[in-house]
Amino acid sequence: MVVSAPPKPTSTDARPFLKWAGGKTKLLPQYQPCLPQRWSRYHEPFLGGGALFFRLQSGENPPAVARLTDVNPELINVYRCVRDRLGPVIALLELHQLRHSKDYYYDLRSQHELPPVERAARFIYLNKTCFNGLYRENRKGRFNVPMGSYKNPGICNIEMLTAASEVLQRCEIEQEDFTHVLDHAKGKRDFVYLDPPYFPISATSNFTSYSRDAFGAEQHEQLRDVCLKLAKRGVKVMLSNSNCEFVRELYDDSVFELQEITAARSINSKAKNRGKITELLITTY
Ligand SMILES: C[S@@+](CC[C@H](N)C(=O)[O-])C[C@H]1O[C@@H](n2cnc3c(N)ncnc32)[C@H](O)[C@@H]1O
Repeated sequence: MVVSAPPKPTSTDARPFLKWAGGKTKLLPQYQPCLPQRWSRYHEPFLGGGALFFRLQSGENPPAVARLTDVNPELINVYRCVRDRLGPVIALLELHQLRHSKDYYYDLRSQHELPPVERAARFIYLNKTCFNGLYRENRKGRFNVPMGSYKNPGICNIEMLTAASEVLQRCEIEQEDFTHVLDHAKGKRDFVYLDPPYFPISATSNFTSYSRDAFGAEQHEQLRDVCLKLAKRGVKVMLSNSNCEFVRELYDDSVFELQEITAARSINSKAKNRGKITELLITTY
């Protein structure tokens, strides 16, 4: 009997391999018409699950060069290991998949100081099996999300990881603060997509406040200044944020165009607070 090998994943199959709070997959159809026409270098300084980056791979204009960055060192370690050490990551994930149980989850969650590949596989395993795919740390910077309840958490999706690894080969991946985008995006061939932790629309809506690196009004002001500098250089800037007075006032400069996007809010512990809201998509081109 001849058994043919499964088709090799291509860049058109690449999609986010992590669940990420604030991930943009559902909004991408609304973003599509707002993308710039001409550019060749892509920068995503708040990478998270990288929904837009992966979607661009299957578009008419996949980025020739991409620089993907985030302040979260564990997240960046995962992307680098998926790019450079996929075989060992998959081998460990297969083991985690086989052993998955409540005890196993909490045992692995409590392990620290592991080498990079082990940390990457641990991160993916916890991401797929924890409550709502949330990433939250305690004050010591230890991941502290409880286990979720999934019948089939899809811990090791080899095809998805292989497709992601393939497109990540062309990317520079760094752990850094968003302000460093100014060192790299220099002119009109650069397109920067910024998706920061949103400014809260209410006192209870900011789930990102659990993380080590809080992102408050001061950081949002700094981010607006970065956008102004980029725009002056002719860089094409696109930014997502919540639709609230603070953000509208912050981007009240003729260089920015503000558009409302309709979104379903899913990260809210109270079901009655999950509904349709609008967000802002802010562009400079
Ligand atoms: C809303 S999420 C991005 C979601 C992503 N666009 C997606 O589709 O999944 C925001 C990201 O910003 C990162 N972040 C928070 N503060 C940062 C900072 N000062 N510099 C760079 N990244 C930061 C967080 O680690 C998180 O991954």
